[in-house]
Amino acid sequence: NDVIRLGLAGFGTVGSGVAKVIAENGELIRRRTGKRLHIKTVLVRNLTKARAFDPGQETSFTSDPSRLWADPEIDIVVELMGGTTTAYDIIEASLNAGKHVVTANKALLAERGRPLFQLAGEKGLGLYYEASVAGGIPIVQTLKESLAANRIEKIVGILNGTANYVLSEMTTSNLEFETALEQAKLLGYAEADPTLDIEGIDAAHKLIMLIRLAYGAHYPFEQLPVTGISGVTSEDIRLVYEFGYRLKLIGQAREVDGKIEAGVFPALVKYTYLLARVGGNYNAVRVEANAAGPLMFSGQGAGGLPTGSAVLADILSLVKCCGKPDNTGFTEIALPDADILDPDL
Ligand code: NAP
Ligand code: HSE
Repeated sequence: NDVIRLGLAGFGTVGSGVAKVIAENGELIRRRTGKRLHIKTVLVRNLTKARAFDPGQETSFTSDPSRLWADPEIDIVVELMGGTTTAYDIIEASLNAGKHVVTANKALLAERGRPLFQLAGEKGLGLYYEASVAGGIPIVQTLKESLAANRIEKIVGILNGTANYVLSEMTTSNLEFETALEQAKLLGYAEADPTLDIEGIDAAHKLIMLIRLAYGAHYPFEQLPVTGISGVTSEDIRLVYEFGYRLKLIGQAREVDGKIEAGVFPALVKYTYLLARVGGNYNAVRVEANAAGPLMFSGQGAGGLPTGSAVLADILSLVKCCGKPDNTGFTEIALPDADILDPDL
């Protein structure tokens, strides 16, 4: 069968981004893989809402979640709705129904991912999540595959596009915090609850996923030290700039004496550092790998098309390898005694 039928849960910024990439690149994908991607069913909350993108007449909209997992024709369920409750139920039911799952939902995976990964492993199904960390940057596959032979000494990065957009616009366009945040919301970068972006929670979710990939460890989300940027003023930004620094919301994890130190915090980054120059909705991830050496990845960390690109990378991986499970093998990790992490960029 040369058609891969997708069931999408959610058709907001990311869901419509996925549909746009398929509309634009579907023929190219067909030539490369021999498969045609067809969005068969889309689950939304509000069936009468006007949509920014029309996926065409071959796609039907529903508000009944069971239409995703109970339809034998759907090959892959793609969860792009967010939240940690209904989304959990949909992923669990889809795995139980024998469907591979792709998700962009870092909140769900960081806070409640463990039983879902276990279930996927038991069922021999894929639960893929490239889009959950750093938008369009292919960091999940990189850690999983390309750096598989390395010990990861440290990961440090800008992991939230909204916070970086706000801090960058305050610096370069003299915008007030609230004005910059409103723009980030309009551009589709922010979470449904933007407090998650501003208070560092979203970056923390992504850091938990990076720790899982780099150290094979389950770091309890509630124990991760997190400080956001909600208290930052235009005066702070001006002073930091005058002293030759840029304010960035940083997520960092490193192994020290067999323990993993990790945290999310605003940091002053010297203007000559690459991280200081990462502006707008961009994310950056610097990985220190013991054999490959230091590596730096940068790109759009939020928005429909970059995130849609990452979702499709997972779908195409599943199409190629039929979803070999990679979801087992957590280890318990030791946490540091102190909960303060010194910035070490
Ligand atoms: P969004 O624009 O708010 O879209 C959410 C979609 O899910 C909407 O279509 C909504 O339906 C649907 N939905 C929400 N709750 C539902 C429910 N209970 N039942 C049925 N449908 C429901 O969100 P988004 O920005 O696309 O983000 C989606 C996911 O991707 C989140 O997990 C987010 O963290 C993640 N993510 C987002 C970005 C980004 O740049 N935005 C990047 C990476 C990852 P209606 O349209 O009818 O309201
Ligand atoms: N709200 C998130 C961000 C979306 O701004 O980075 C991408 O995960």
